[in-house]
Amino acid sequence: MIDTDRIPRHIAIIMDGNGRWAEARGQNRSKGHQAGAESVDKITAECARLGVKYLTLYTFSTENWNRPPAEVEAIMQLLLSNLVEETFMKNNVRLRIIGDRSRVAPHVMKAIEAMEERTAGNDRMTLVLAFSYSSRWEITDAVRRIAREVEAGRMQAADIDEATFARCLDSSFAPDPELIIRTGGEQRISNFLLWQCAYSELYFTPIFWPDFDEQALYDAIEDYQHRERRFGKTSAQVKDGE
Ligand code: IPE
Ligand code: IPE
Ligand code: MG
Repeated sequence: MIDTDRIPRHIAIIMDGNGRWAEARGQNRSKGHQAGAESVDKITAECARLGVKYLTLYTFSTENWNRPPAEVEAIMQLLLSNLVEETFMKNNVRLRIIGDRSRVAPHVMKAIEAMEERTAGNDRMTLVLAFSYSSRWEITDAVRRIAREVEAGRMQAADIDEATFARCLDSSFAPDPELIIRTGGEQRISNFLLWQCAYSELYFTPIFWPDFDEQALYDAIEDYQHRERRFGKTSAQVKDGE
């Protein structure tokens, strides 16, 4: 059973395994992405219901641009057809995107930005799509922003601390994720939230993303709730509430 009073504020998910899910059924990889889109709806609604405040979904990495053009196109079309205003409104969910917007086709970007605007007043949960995202891109972009401030004389090198740096990240509006889930069996981060995952609890499951359902989400949260997060302290200190 999960403790509903200790739901992570921010859950981030590496949604992996769509292609293998489809291949195992003798289907085209795009079918897997289609089935994965249904998991997105299901898990988004359930996280909002549980009281998660931020849900970040790794939707498309900067490295995924190197996939066959037909697969990339299928993913773009799926994203467009899944930006349904009614779903966001029904769940009172706000949409925000993080990633390199300059590489995304203008008509796709326009649809995303329109949905970000239309849902800006929704406050139950923020759904963050990491789209055309990689953490090294995000970090490099933050460095560029800081360098420009220094160049313009608005900031001094000595002023740069962890908080300043974090404010320059594309994802600066969200707290660090307490829990990062990766589906599909691989145990790696694949360029996702490298700065933000410093003290995140990592949870890996062999379940392919299209099969990841509410019960699988509860299992991940329950596992997280059994862990002791020490942040460098000793267990005794944590138990004393220091
Ligand atoms: C994750 O599923 C979705 C994206 C990366 C866009 P994959 O497409 O990577 O599925 P597998 O890992 O090949 O099974
Ligand atoms: C990570 O999955 C990216 C997303 C889930 C969007 P990949 O399938 O691209 O990761 P690797 O290549 O197996 O590391
Ligand atoms: Mg994969």
